Amino acid sequence: MSLFNVYPLFDITPVKAKDIYVFDINNNKYLDLYGGHAVISIGHSHPEYVKGISEQVSKLGFYSNSIQNPMQVELSEKIEALSGCTGFELFLCNSGAEANENALKLASFHNDRKKVLSFKNSFHGRTSAAVAVTDNPKIVAPINAQQEVEFVALGDLESVKKVLEKGDVCAVIIECIQGVGGLAESSTEFYQGLARLCKTYGTLLIADEVQSGFGRTGDFFAFQKHDITPDIISMAKGMGNGFPIGGILIHPSIKSAFGLLGTTFGGNHLACAASLAVLKVLERENLMQNANAVSSYFISKARELPKLKTIKGRGLMLGLEFDFPIAEIRKNLIFNHHIFTGSAKNPNLLRILPPLTIKKEHVDAFINALKIELGTK
Ligand SMILES: Cc1ncc(COP(=O)(O)O)c(C=O)c1O
Repeated sequence: MSLFNVYPLFDITPVKAKDIYVFDINNNKYLDLYGGHAVISIGHSHPEYVKGISEQVSKLGFYSNSIQNPMQVELSEKIEALSGCTGFELFLCNSGAEANENALKLASFHNDRKKVLSFKNSFHGRTSAAVAVTDNPKIVAPINAQQEVEFVALGDLESVKKVLEKGDVCAVIIECIQGVGGLAESSTEFYQGLARLCKTYGTLLIADEVQSGFGRTGDFFAFQKHDITPDIISMAKGMGNGFPIGGILIHPSIKSAFGLLGTTFGGNHLACAASLAVLKVLERENLMQNANAVSSYFISKARELPKLKTIKGRGLMLGLEFDFPIAEIRKNLIFNHHIFTGSAKNPNLLRILPPLTIKKEHVDAFINALKIELGTK
């Protein structure tokens, strides 16, 4: 049987990884500035993480959501303490798309509306409602296109108001910093205005923190820089450091009821062990502070690069925008220098999404390699 061919693959086969390095089948060592697409938060194979998962699987890996699972309660308490999102409630699932799917569904249950406002260049996942609110017609199948969605430009508060004032919009879903779309972020004035408009018109505000959450930007959530309170916050990627887990934080004004949401695997013991280990290490190793410190260093070094148009993003969710497509450079970084980076919808943008354990010396290695590729070394 062959594999359904949906991913363009680099011809590299990783077999092990440690902190910020990945090793392939030929024992080549790669510097991982991509983090498996912003997933690796506390570093590959962190001993606390390996211990947490190994010990848990030897006791109880899984049981269904029909029994008491104190690990889910512990996880909710730890997320509350580290994020400062007090009073929110937690629902656990398995991926980013599923988190957004549940967020949109819950918003619709709450206010009995169905239209969603989303933003141009957004990416929210590939399940039914999540892909419908994603601004990429190529991945929206006819079955998904039945959803009522309006897209407006990020930062265009006037257009947001025109859509919301009709009073029929269930939710606004927004990535505070766009990931796949290319790291655009609007102003605090825009995010606060958006939150105000949502309140005025009874629309729920969903912050998609799937990529930017769990400390990646140096804050626990990216929206926190703008001092707003979303109604629902979706999380995944860095939450499990590679173990599949997602979740939503739900404002207490939204009431639960038996059967409203559900999943077989969501919040299982093993997934909770993975995420608890992530939070423990994030706090103990001051990884959000490290994200901020290494980010400042990265930005100061990147400013030395020739041909660079702009540096986008915050913390360790960064992008280098050039005046030309970066595909060739990205390939050369992998094959000539053994450095993984990411791409974006914008073909001129090189994305940097390393583990939050990254150090200045790794930044130096990357900048040197990039200088060589740009022909200045
Ligand atoms: C902002 C954002 N939301 C949702 C998703 C979908 O997450 P998943 O691939 O886990 O379904 C992604 C994935 O890249 C993302 O970047």
